[in-house]
Amino acid sequence: MTIDDDKRLAAQAAVAEVRDGMVVGLGTGSTAAFAIAALAARIADGLHIQAVATSEASAHAAFAAGIVVRDFADFATLDLAIDGADEVDARLWAIKGAGGAMLREKAVAAAARRMIVIADGSKHVAAIGAAKLPVEVLPFARAFVVAQLEILGATVTVRPDYETDNGNLVADCRFAAMPDPRALAAAIDAIPGALGHGLFLDEVDAAYIASRGVVTRLKRP
Ligand code: A5P
Repeated sequence: MTIDDDKRLAAQAAVAEVRDGMVVGLGTGSTAAFAIAALAARIADGLHIQAVATSEASAHAAFAAGIVVRDFADFATLDLAIDGADEVDARLWAIKGAGGAMLREKAVAAAARRMIVIADGSKHVAAIGAAKLPVEVLPFARAFVVAQLEILGATVTVRPDYETDNGNLVADCRFAAMPDPRALAAAIDAIPGALGHGLFLDEVDAAYIASRGVVTRLKRP
């Protein structure tokens, strides 16, 4: 069993929850790519769904796999979103955004009636906070936002030669400790020019975690 096998198993377990007629939010990253492949396989077997994608990369991959990809701008609500994570804990708090898509991912997750995280066991942690926390930054306000993030205790690296699908920068933040993710999320939300961040504290309804071939389903406590 490789990590990719675990990612595939977690993705297949989540895709098994997709039903005919749903509008499904497709995540971004290597685990979400397995979900796109699993969904395409079910569509080839007769499932009828529409999808929206959290990144241009996932939109292209889904379209190439034969999935009907619609514009998220036209949907106020979705039935289900399936996405990877960089860390997820027992509270179903997650850190996302290593792939830089966290702003679109959070909008899609928030619009979805249910959001399922899929991950291999390395992403399952006792408490989120060790992973870098990406923040999408308006280029116009780069130095100001970085300074505000440093005041919050972050060691900040602006991702070099990188632009999000929205044309913005990403500031990767490392925190020596993250004792209160909810307070941190609120503080980042309050910085003008910080457009979104990878703390997902209210969006995740369930998670499929696969470790050495065994899939576990976590539910919000
Ligand atoms: C994309 O922006 C991220 O939120 C990904 O969902 C997350 O980084 C997990 O990616 P992998 O599945 O590639 O580890």
